[in-house]
Amino acid sequence: MTMSNRLSIALMLSFSLASTLSYAETKKPEAAMKSVIVYYSYTGRTETVAKTLASEIGADVVKIEDVEKPSKLKAYFLGAFAAHKGKAWPVKSLPSVSGYDRVFVGAPVWWMRPAPEINGFIQGTDFTGKTVVPFVTMGGSGQDAALKAMSAAVEAKGGKVSSTFSVKTGGLTQTGIVAKTKETAKQYR
Ligand SMILES: Cc1cc2nc3c(=O)[nH]c(=O)nc-3n(C[C@H](O)[C@H](O)[C@H](O)COP(=O)(O)O)c2cc1C
Repeated sequence: MTMSNRLSIALMLSFSLASTLSYAETKKPEAAMKSVIVYYSYTGRTETVAKTLASEIGADVVKIEDVEKPSKLKAYFLGAFAAHKGKAWPVKSLPSVSGYDRVFVGAPVWWMRPAPEINGFIQGTDFTGKTVVPFVTMGGSGQDAALKAMSAAVEAKGGKVSSTFSVKTGGLTQTGIVAKTKETAKQYR
């Protein structure tokens, strides 16, 4: 083998080694990602999904709390309208997502959009460099429009939406919601 052939082979090997290393540095496998689940829940169903997912994948979990929990009347009239218009309702505090690679953002669907409490969290958070998974729970419909709105809002704040999911809670018991979430959680381990 000539000197120049040896040199070309050495160059090719070092190039492919460098590409492999830089790929490994930038592309963490899902299982190696430090994850947090940030959610809002009015009646507890999204909370069941969030907590089940957290224990299945080993993530931290943080609840977004209303400054003042709305009455049913307020939720169904003003809340649903606010959600549909993409408005943000005041919440007690915004959790920090720094130190996490992957952020799950969960909310119930209110009139085909995420509940307004989660909008404030998304609008007030810098998701740059984060993998984000928006998810919703709903009685029966509206998940696609809600997830589309959440994904656009997250991307406007620099996040990379890798996937979304929904859990239809209508007609399900707590045990049913847990079982459905455990099934969904498999893809995020
Ligand atoms: C104000 C309000 C609006 C709702 N709008 C919808 C809707 O558009 N589509 C739907 O399928 N369910 C709707 N639901 C039902 C909730 O999305 C569903 O029960 C959800 O799982 C509740 O989550 P939570 O227990 O975490 O609050 C609505 C519930 C409320 C309180």
